[in-house]
Amino acid sequence: MDQQLEQLRTEALAAIAGAADETAVEQARIKYLGQSGALTAVSKGMKDVSKEDKPRIGKLLNDVRTAVTSALDERKAALLADADAAAFAGVDVTLPGTAPRLGSLHPITQLQDRAIQIFRRMGFALADGPDIEDEWHCFDALNTPADHPARNEQDTFYLPDGRLLRTHTSTIQVRTMESSAPPIRIIAPGAAYRRDEVDATHLAQFNQMEGLYVAEGVSVGDLKGTLEFFFRELFGKDAQFRFRPHFFPFTEPSFEVDIKATALGAADKWLEIAGCGMVDPAVFESINAKRGDTAYDPEKYTGFAFGFGLDRLAMIMSGTPDIRYFTQNDQRFLAQF
Ligand code: PHE
Repeated sequence: MDQQLEQLRTEALAAIAGAADETAVEQARIKYLGQSGALTAVSKGMKDVSKEDKPRIGKLLNDVRTAVTSALDERKAALLADADAAAFAGVDVTLPGTAPRLGSLHPITQLQDRAIQIFRRMGFALADGPDIEDEWHCFDALNTPADHPARNEQDTFYLPDGRLLRTHTSTIQVRTMESSAPPIRIIAPGAAYRRDEVDATHLAQFNQMEGLYVAEGVSVGDLKGTLEFFFRELFGKDAQFRFRPHFFPFTEPSFEVDIKATALGAADKWLEIAGCGMVDPAVFESINAKRGDTAYDPEKYTGFAFGFGLDRLAMIMSGTPDIRYFTQNDQRFLAQF
């Protein structure tokens, strides 16, 4: 039996080595390892082997089966490698390929990244919040009364359940104050939504960047200094500013910021770019009421807030005549940035 097995091994290995394709390998497998294969037949004969021979022959049988199995696997792998090599033969891998076209970040994203970088240098942290909001975070907490036009169904997208799409990212400031005590210094970039008629200067969804700084002794001077530094970094040292008194429900005093800069194309024209002001104590009071503490004690803390539209800024900076270009995914437009 030993001899028979050794012979089988030699014969099987030779057959496998000579198998020219996958079919031949499979035939060899069936011939030796299949249900009525030669090795299977030998193992069936094991029951007639004498007790003292059994361990030796059993081991030999296993060895041969293992050798045949791995020879089959190796031959299959080798055939596959040959086929792959053949498929690539004649391909000149030194020929230059078709270069993939590199995309770039959307102009609004580029501007947002730049703005974040500048505010980071002044110690502002990045804050985030949901686009779908409730009336409290969007209006009530911000001292915006129930009869304010912004709360009208004509101006704001309401969901059937009474929630809404935030009309400004000030909601993020509210959420940050809810969860963190002063001092805080954050910027809140993100999408905002208004039921505006879409035209060359309006989108129903646009991008804002708002900011909030609350600490002891924060003044209008800090507000002006911060915004002037920011916009000078963006538009150049020659930028001139005008802070015009304005009204927002959540700040007092409030201002609109106008800027003149050569980088903005019209060096002698005032362009309105941001809203800002000192946080109204009434906002601190509603935050305290929600928090259930007096962390935002209006006698102790003051703060400034500001907000501007990134789409509008990007339009001004690039001389883009129609805000809708930013949402149309037209390569002819986007490739210019
Ligand atoms: N939330 C205001 C807006 O969306 C901008 C603003 C923010 C104004 C902070 C003043 C202070 O128009």
